[in-house]
Amino acid sequence: MPDKKKVVIFLLLVTAYSSYSAYLYLRPPFQAEPIDELADKGKIVWQENNCTACHQIYGLGGYLGPDLTNVYSKRGAEYIKAFVKGGTPIMPSFKLSEEDMSALLVFLEHVDQSGSSDPRNFRIHFNGTIEQ
Ligand code: HEC
Repeated sequence: MPDKKKVVIFLLLVTAYSSYSAYLYLRPPFQAEPIDELADKGKIVWQENNCTACHQIYGLGGYLGPDLTNVYSKRGAEYIKAFVKGGTPIMPSFKLSEEDMSALLVFLEHVDQSGSSDPRNFRIHFNGTIEQ
């Protein structure tokens, strides 16, 4: 291949690389909303009771129980409360205080509003990134 062509290809690659880098890095950074204090506490309750050993959020976690990302809107607070208090032959019951239980519910509500765990609902952008 003639050197002239190599230089053109090289410059093309450098330009593509720099413009894509500029496109990615010059966008304003993602601003996460500050998490609600009660939801934050509920997350600790979730972690301390190791719900994630059996359940997933956004598809990540253990696989003994179902994904709970959208359980709040699908089932409602009372259903979740009954499940956590009563347990089932497979899921242990948890004796949470009223305070911990309401924090856990606020956490699950917060997670529910933050997106969906079903990748079929995700939007795929032309550059390969996804949005829920
Ligand atoms: C040892 C594993 C295990 C742990 C730990 C566990 N679960 Fe479960 N959970 C299950 C299984 C299995 C099911 C499915 C119910 C069944 O078939 O018995 C379930 C079902 C549920 C459901 C009902 C979901 C639905 O859509 O019907 C909720 C809500 C739930 N779990 C919440 C929790 C929370 C909150 C915690 C933590 C405090 C927790 N679980 C900890 C195993 C677990």
